[in-house]
Amino acid sequence: MKNRSHAFDYLQVDDFLSDVVSARALATALELRLIDFLLENQPVPKNILVEKFQGDRRGIELLLELLCNAGVTRDHEGAVILSAAFEKALAYRDLLEAKLQFARVTAPDFLDHFTALVHSPELFRRRARIFDLFGYDRSEAFSRENLQRTREWVRLTTALTRYEARVLMEYHDFGHHRLMLDIGGNSGELALCLCRKHPGLQATVFDLPLVCHVGRDHLLKEPEADRIAFVEGNALKDPLPRGFDLVCFKSMLHDWPDPHAWHLLESAARCLRPGGTLLVFERQRPEAWPWPLPYSLIPFLLFFRSYRTPSSYETQLKGLGFQEITRRRIDLDMPFMLVTGVKK
Ligand SMILES: C[S@@+](CC[C@H](N)C(=O)[O-])C[C@H]1O[C@@H](n2cnc3c(N)ncnc32)[C@H](O)[C@@H]1O
Repeated sequence: MKNRSHAFDYLQVDDFLSDVVSARALATALELRLIDFLLENQPVPKNILVEKFQGDRRGIELLLELLCNAGVTRDHEGAVILSAAFEKALAYRDLLEAKLQFARVTAPDFLDHFTALVHSPELFRRRARIFDLFGYDRSEAFSRENLQRTREWVRLTTALTRYEARVLMEYHDFGHHRLMLDIGGNSGELALCLCRKHPGLQATVFDLPLVCHVGRDHLLKEPEADRIAFVEGNALKDPLPRGFDLVCFKSMLHDWPDPHAWHLLESAARCLRPGGTLLVFERQRPEAWPWPLPYSLIPFLLFFRSYRTPSSYETQLKGLGFQEITRRRIDLDMPFMLVTGVKK
């Protein structure tokens, strides 16, 4: 797309996740470390690759054929090299791997339970693995297993946020904020991105106890860590800290049905000083899903009932007495909305 800044460049990872066969072949090439081997040794004659990655010759030959069809590799005078486009996308390897994993874990829900998803959301909720992956109830009480499970999904959300935050910073000037609260702020990745860019900013991340635990570990070696505090709690039940000039909800409210989401907005309003800004940044309900629907969107398709329109947030903010309400649409892997309002 024209006139897009470099902050959008990360979206090129999706070019390699458009269909299940390409994505699966790429995941296998990453697992076998074939991609790393090519990075270090390319161009590599096919027979050397077959020898190096032994096992069954026909298996590796099939994999190489699929990778070439997927545009991951190309032929270079009879040898194999990574395509220029794929090498560029590899700059976002953390995101590529996270999206591969996210789609892989959730694709069975689509294949096995789509009828339930369409017909009976309750039945889908009982059967689908996606709610098991994002098991927030297991992020409250400490156990080794709960911590491990929490780490797994926080890795996915962190990778998405790392890049979505860069775009967000192009659309909202965080430079005039001093004290921010990120409710459902997860590993602190958004706070980290903002604090890195704005040395005058201090952040508080409010999230479930084990998520905060993972977040503290995540920030351990970051110079900005001493400007980012974690507060453990349940935003639906526990009191939230107050006195902020910015409160953010990034990809958080859509997890909740209207009564809970509106309750969260109301609580967030109380955390703000007069003149402070409330900011919502998350996927919005698409007018139409892209077709063909890319494999990488399967996890987000499963949440199709959760996405709201910007006007639903605008209405709530108006009702809470917010002023200077703005809304922007930002097209990422899906349309996102950025809605802000200023507390009187
Ligand atoms: C979909 S994730 C989004 C995380 C992060 N804001 C991002 O954009 O990557 C939702 C976040 O809300 C947190 N969360 C869920 N229920 C919560 C609750 N009752 N109180 C506080 N945080 C909660 C989750 O732990 C998770 O970090």
